Amino acid sequence: MDTGFGYMGNDAKTTEKTEAGGVSAGKDATALGGAAVAGKAEPAVIIEVAGVTKVYQMSEVQVHALRGVDCRVYEGEFVVLLGASGSGKSTLLNIIGGIDVPTAGTVTYKGRDIGAFKERELTNYRRKAVGFVFQFYNLVPDLTAEENIRLAYDLSDDPLPIGPLIEGIDMVGREDHFPSQLSGGQQQRVAIARALSKNPDILLCDEPTGALDFATGIQVLQLLKDFNRQYHKTVMIITHNSSIGQIGDRVFHIKDGLIDRITVNESPKEASEVSW
Ligand SMILES: Nc1ncnc2c1ncn2[C@@H]1O[C@H](COP(=O)(O)OP(=O)(O)O)[C@@H](O)[C@H]1O
Ligand SMILES: [Mg+2]
Repeated sequence: MDTGFGYMGNDAKTTEKTEAGGVSAGKDATALGGAAVAGKAEPAVIIEVAGVTKVYQMSEVQVHALRGVDCRVYEGEFVVLLGASGSGKSTLLNIIGGIDVPTAGTVTYKGRDIGAFKERELTNYRRKAVGFVFQFYNLVPDLTAEENIRLAYDLSDDPLPIGPLIEGIDMVGREDHFPSQLSGGQQQRVAIARALSKNPDILLCDEPTGALDFATGIQVLQLLKDFNRQYHKTVMIITHNSSIGQIGDRVFHIKDGLIDRITVNESPKEASEVSW
């Protein structure tokens, strides 16, 4: 199966350009506190979650969506958040992405507390540092595929070139189609290209294959894997499908508003090697 971003890795010009403009692993090492330990480089922490709780007040009832989550996410890692419906996965991802705020606790990005960001810093964080991919694509219906991607591209100081992204998602020749003229899988690929075009440090994906058939889901997951590897960008993906856990470097098992345990995959699988 051709999952597209192979093209980007093989195109010397594209690779050079994006690597020069992208965030290299060492660039922010000092700010991150991810210092090398006696001869062995420790991966830099990009996100640190400490004591995060979230309580939703529903008229009379309090819903404890998160009950004190602590975790670290490293630069360039592929993390799968796995858990049953209602366990708090989306709440955690939204808080990490700065689109929801915790009731208590902190999220730090490259050593900076995003809860202490001024409004403009937070806007910049959401616009530039993180990219979101949702289950239902959220494309603007009266913009074409390319225009949807360009919307996000225009937000970034350091975007990825749109042409190779469209090739990467295998949508050459369909750039001018509107979302209603595209299949679910194609729409999700456009949504992924839109998120990637900002060249975010962290890609946050909430059940990105939840509305897709198996084969299309695998393709979308492989796109995310390829992006993670070729650009050395952090990817966090939510699923309730334990098979998908096999493609992650680490799996955070979320249960009742907590990370119940974290498992490490020494040799994460390719999406094409997974089935469910
Ligand atoms: N905006 C909200 N208002 C009230 N309750 C919410 C809201 N968002 C989530 N919840 C509740 O918080 C809990 C965790 O939800 P969520 O993070 O969406 O779980 P998951 O993504 O794992 O399915 C659930 O009980 C859910 O009903
Ligand atoms: Mg959810």
